Amino acid sequence: MSQQVRGVVVTAEDAPAEVTTIVIPDPGPGEAVVKIQACGVCHTDLHYKQGGIGDEFPYLLGHEAAGIVESVGEGVSEVGVGDFVVLNWRAVCGQCRACRRGRPQYCFDTHNARQKMTLEDGTELSPALGIGAFAEKTLVAAGQCTKVDPGVSPAVAGLLGCGVMAGIGAAINTGQVGRGDSVAVIGCGGVGGAAITGSRLAGAARIIAVDIDDNKLQTARALGATHTVNSRKQDAVEAIRELTGGNGADVVVEAVGRPETYEQAFYARDLAGTVVLVGVPTPDMRVELPLLDVFGRGGALKSSWYGDCLPSRDFPMLIDLHQQGRLDLGAFVTETVGLGDVEKAFARMHDGDVLRSVVVL
Ligand code: APR
Ligand code: ZN
Ligand code: ZN
Repeated sequence: MSQQVRGVVVTAEDAPAEVTTIVIPDPGPGEAVVKIQACGVCHTDLHYKQGGIGDEFPYLLGHEAAGIVESVGEGVSEVGVGDFVVLNWRAVCGQCRACRRGRPQYCFDTHNARQKMTLEDGTELSPALGIGAFAEKTLVAAGQCTKVDPGVSPAVAGLLGCGVMAGIGAAINTGQVGRGDSVAVIGCGGVGGAAITGSRLAGAARIIAVDIDDNKLQTARALGATHTVNSRKQDAVEAIRELTGGNGADVVVEAVGRPETYEQAFYARDLAGTVVLVGVPTPDMRVELPLLDVFGRGGALKSSWYGDCLPSRDFPMLIDLHQQGRLDLGAFVTETVGLGDVEKAFARMHDGDVLRSVVVL
């Protein structure tokens, strides 16, 4: 028995994101239907709409979500009906070499729900990042659900499903920021802002925020930056060096995803420092670096995929810290909106005046 609910769908490149009726099948083996309570609006949703991720229209948008498990299919043991869960992009297999070596972040055989949600006429939907959570309900693989404490607000919990986790994870998991470190974060949107928060959490002594927008730098201070640099007005590399006793930062997080900011990150790190690329580049982008500088500066050049997170470890931990008052995830929720407001949220995102708009159902 399938059911019909409302969801936000884009039918063709640059067509408006519209609320329409979608059909959700009963969960099959290994699947779950989740009643969505909140879902953050992320740049990736906009990229789907613009055709920047693929052309498998129609897309069901939304992927930073939390909700309640409504039903589960055969053989599901990860979660049960009534559980409050945060969704992640992909369930891991638990069997491949990466999983067996304790690095499921790099699982070779991740999966989403095997059945398809559809439009009323039977057209199959492509759910954004295998989730599709701008909807009253969605169908996912049970392994995409991580049970967390139901005492936290869904708007806050959902953020861990993507950008905020990516940023916090870039600092604490990938960058391994430690007590007393100096950290520079280039790009202070939702992801960079979360990297600042993560660095503070990890005990960094100095957190230098770099952006081209003074409003973002102000937000960065509220999130824990100790120093700010507007790289339109100042040379970012020189400013970071100056603020770190001439050395450069122990960890530099690049949260823009552009060649020029990556180059800044490369030269702003201390000898033997770490550069973490968490901003997502486009396929045409190239950086050219003198190999002697790569050799001579040592350290580590890393990339951070989904904040190198393990949902089952990191989601409950971060929610715990939030509830204890040691991590303010609420600071990332700029506004809450309705299911019909996704287009408006895209426009505000474009204007750059929000960290996150969150659709609340
Ligand atoms: N130098 C410094 N900061 C810059 C520059 C630049 N040349 N260009 C843009 N920025 C800043 C913007 O002013 C903004 O504050 O980078 C920030 C980007 O933030 P958002 O647009 O909110 O993007 P966010 O959601 O944080 O994602 C950042 O990570 O996940 C990826 O696809 C995402 O590549 C994107 C990046
Ligand atoms: Zn996202
Ligand atoms: Zn695996």
